[in-house]
Amino acid sequence: MGMFKNKTKTCKAQTVPRHIAIIMDGNGRWATKRGLPRTAGHAAGSETFRRIATYCRAIGVEYLTVYAFSTENWKRSAEEVGAIMQLFEKYLHEAIDTMANDHIRLKILGDMSRISPELRALIAKTDEISTHYDGFQANICINYGGRDEIVHAAKAFAARCASGECSPDELTEDMFSDLLYTAGLPDPELIIRPSGEVRVSNFLLWQSAYSEYYFTDVLWPDFDEKELDRAISAFNRRDRRFGGVKK
Ligand code: IPE
Ligand code: IPE
Ligand code: MG
Repeated sequence: MGMFKNKTKTCKAQTVPRHIAIIMDGNGRWATKRGLPRTAGHAAGSETFRRIATYCRAIGVEYLTVYAFSTENWKRSAEEVGAIMQLFEKYLHEAIDTMANDHIRLKILGDMSRISPELRALIAKTDEISTHYDGFQANICINYGGRDEIVHAAKAFAARCASGECSPDELTEDMFSDLLYTAGLPDPELIIRPSGEVRVSNFLLWQSAYSEYYFTDVLWPDFDEKELDRAISAFNRRDRRFGGVKK
């Protein structure tokens, strides 16, 4: 296990972010490099997620949010999209069996309207199981887009205004946050993107206002506990000012 202590437990050691978010990128390249189909990379990537979620829980992270499928990923071949959806189903089936033992709360974030009824039923089941636990929470973003999320929230607010429940000038940042898929979650302190790409690709646009980013060339299926330790160490060296001046 790493050398970290949760902020709430000690201030001597390095602080572990309460909320870490990861763009799980590089599965396809990982597979291609090995002469495997891209889908083999997604299968390997889902194992990495399991491992990193377990590790996050062990070192005291409270929330882990991962980007698994974006609103733009539908552009891929039907074969690849189908294989990814099957992996979600397989993962959730297994999670339903182990959540109680693992003490992991699981939430799926995104627009579920394009998700199959089978997968949606599994998501409803994990939601229901999650209500019986507290502690570590993993959020998997599926058919998630930061812009889509903001538009969705804006529509919800507009609908409230139209029904006379509230008026436009009452809107605050906190109220808007509560209309996002991430309602109730603290903003991520640290966002990690493996695979060498240095862009956000529509992930947590609102929530990342003051997040620290960590980029690494490691492909997601090769990402491990040591890589996470490195990201947390880098986070601890950052000087977070939130617009203020360093004391
Ligand atoms: C991330 O890996 C998984 C998804 C976007 C679904 P990629 O499939 O994007 O892998 P690369 O970027 O092509 O290597
Ligand atoms: C971002 O990766 C989405 C996920 C990891 C789920 P992409 O591979 O889709 O992003 P781009 O196309 O490189 O920006
Ligand atoms: Mg990619």
